[in-house]
Amino acid sequence: MTQPVVRLDGLCKSFGGIVVAQDIHLALEAGRIVGLIGPNGAGKTSLFNLISGAVGADAGAIYLNGRLVNRLPMHARARLGLSRTWQNIRLFPSLTVLDNLIVAPRLYAGESIVKCLFAAGALGRQRATLAERAMAQLAKVRMTHAASRYPTEFSYGKQKLISLARALMNDGNGLLLDEPIAGVEGPAYDSLMEVIRGEAAAGRAVCVVEHNVSFVKDLCDWAVFMFQGRIVRTGTVADLVASEELTELYFGR
Ligand SMILES: Nc1ncnc2c1ncn2[C@@H]1O[C@H](COP(=O)(O)OP(=O)(O)OP(=O)(O)O)[C@@H](O)[C@H]1O
Ligand SMILES: [Mg+2]
Repeated sequence: MTQPVVRLDGLCKSFGGIVVAQDIHLALEAGRIVGLIGPNGAGKTSLFNLISGAVGADAGAIYLNGRLVNRLPMHARARLGLSRTWQNIRLFPSLTVLDNLIVAPRLYAGESIVKCLFAAGALGRQRATLAERAMAQLAKVRMTHAASRYPTEFSYGKQKLISLARALMNDGNGLLLDEPIAGVEGPAYDSLMEVIRGEAAAGRAVCVVEHNVSFVKDLCDWAVFMFQGRIVRTGTVADLVASEELTELYFGR
């Protein structure tokens, strides 16, 4: 059996009285796209925060490509190949779209602007290579025209696409996408699905948090349903969506 890219073993996390992860066991494997669904506040983003190191776990183990990473900070996990997008986007408004991508592989998206600006200046000769890679990622999401402009010149949905391109700058094999389709409209919807499928086919383990159930259904062959910090069921998206019990948990009684 091949080793999963991400493996969670008995992961627990609470914020005061709020349990966001309760004995979570999960494996994300290369080439597969797993959907992470559940109602608002279920703990989906928190799980991404735990895996990426944005927050520390109370108990349990997080493995990246077989390595225990509980004590590693975000940027170290990024260097081990873990990349993510953020539900609230987090592009740097004072950097061009191209520079937002160029600083991404070295410094984890979301780190301090000062560090990123320093890195952008210190890149030197590497810059041309990174710029080329950045243009290729922008091309995947059909946003090359945005390269020399600033993120806030674009709609929320377009910024989502740019933030996906930024996540793809990390050429590692773990990719966590927090609501990638929210706000994305029109033809970008289909191209986004193609991009994510392509990344999985190229060998990444992909986990997608999404409230758009039809998107998850079309994209993921397998899904995990979270509620109050617990994984309450796993299965095909069709099975989970068909469950009356889960529908009640999702929408309330
Ligand atoms: N840093 C934090 N400190 C305190 N509480 C937090 C923190 N992060 C998340 N929470 C709480 O944990 C719970 C789970 O939040 P989380 O963002 O993981 O949910 P979610 O499943 O992503 O929801 P949504 O679908 O609305 O994005 C919520 O009640 C939230 O308020
Ligand atoms: Mg969330």
